[in-house]
Amino acid sequence: MKKPVRVAVTGAAGSISRALLFRIAAGDMFGKDQPVYLQLIEVPQAIDALRGIAMELEDCAYPLMHSISLHDNPDSGFSSAHYAILIGARPRAQGMERSDLLTANAEIFSVQGQAINRYANPDVRVLVVGNPANTNALIACSNAPDLSPTQFSALTRLDHNRAVGILSSKKSCNPQDIRKVIIWGNHSPTMYPDLHHAMMHGNPVMPQIDTEWYRNSYIPRIQKRGAEIIQVCGHSSTSSAAQAIIDHMHDWVHGTRQNDYVSMSVMSDGSYDVEKGIFFSYPVRCNYGRYQIINGLTLNDLSRDYFKITEQELLEERDAIRHLIPTDFLQNL
Ligand code: NAD
Ligand code: LMR
Repeated sequence: MKKPVRVAVTGAAGSISRALLFRIAAGDMFGKDQPVYLQLIEVPQAIDALRGIAMELEDCAYPLMHSISLHDNPDSGFSSAHYAILIGARPRAQGMERSDLLTANAEIFSVQGQAINRYANPDVRVLVVGNPANTNALIACSNAPDLSPTQFSALTRLDHNRAVGILSSKKSCNPQDIRKVIIWGNHSPTMYPDLHHAMMHGNPVMPQIDTEWYRNSYIPRIQKRGAEIIQVCGHSSTSSAAQAIIDHMHDWVHGTRQNDYVSMSVMSDGSYDVEKGIFFSYPVRCNYGRYQIINGLTLNDLSRDYFKITEQELLEERDAIRHLIPTDFLQNL
């Protein structure tokens, strides 16, 4: 049996975590041979609710669940963690944009970045889910000076999965048969779901779909799917968010499938002329626990226009929280 890995999850009594934790314990994220030690982090007011979740996890008697600990502070919560999944944050309500959460949630991620830097395993991998996820990832990462920015990421896999799911419904094909879909940019309505490199049954997607449908129906549908879910369900996505978190971490750790990309928001290294120092969703391939941005894809004029809009939004979000980014961080990138 392998040694257990320590998985720290914030917002562990929240809606997404209720869908996620049982699946981590069942082996869906790290594999059916990988025991896990769950380090569950909440605000003090939610510790009673968290106790109930821990009891239910225990009652499932998962063979892979080595143990659970509950924490009302990030310092002990991230101690020696190999993986940190940062979900704890306010979700938006109907009529809000994710960027409206910037001031409410930003502070959380500077404190947590510092705690991860001090107490987590030096090789920790961090996924930020709490919104606005890209900019919160930047805050956490910039507050962890001893770690590499490549150890941090933000979730756009939900948008990626939506892009695959909605296309497969339209074309009546299995999602498995669709490859190389890309989400570029921010996890917000400016994201750019790009099908120009996508393949379906081994053939390019674009000649198989109507351009008018792609531009005027498909792109805005993916961009606004989060709001559509809130409108229909009365709350933001939970099970699909949990699935995306599983997929993101699984692929980061175990590698992406052959001849495919996945979308991950990672620190821009200047690829595709995106300014350095923002978390931008790129197509990546993962291997041996590392991601690699796919370079060299051609961008047409439509793609370049979308790119500029989403990059600009991320730069504006960064300006709004600059006080939380240590001064030398951006200069040293
Ligand atoms: P929720 O309100 O049900 O749960 C959030 C939990 O976080 C609560 O239990 C709360 O007590 C806890 N929390 C708040 N501050 C904390 C802190 N400092 N430390 C630890 N825990 C803390 O919300 P949810 O539906 O689970 O969503 C959580 C976040 O994830 C929201 O910001 C939401 O917008 C975001 N989200 C992102 C994506 C994505 O694709 N990136 C998808 C879905 C939701
Ligand atoms: C989503 O995309 O479902 C989440 O980011 C929640 C939201 O506020 O849209």
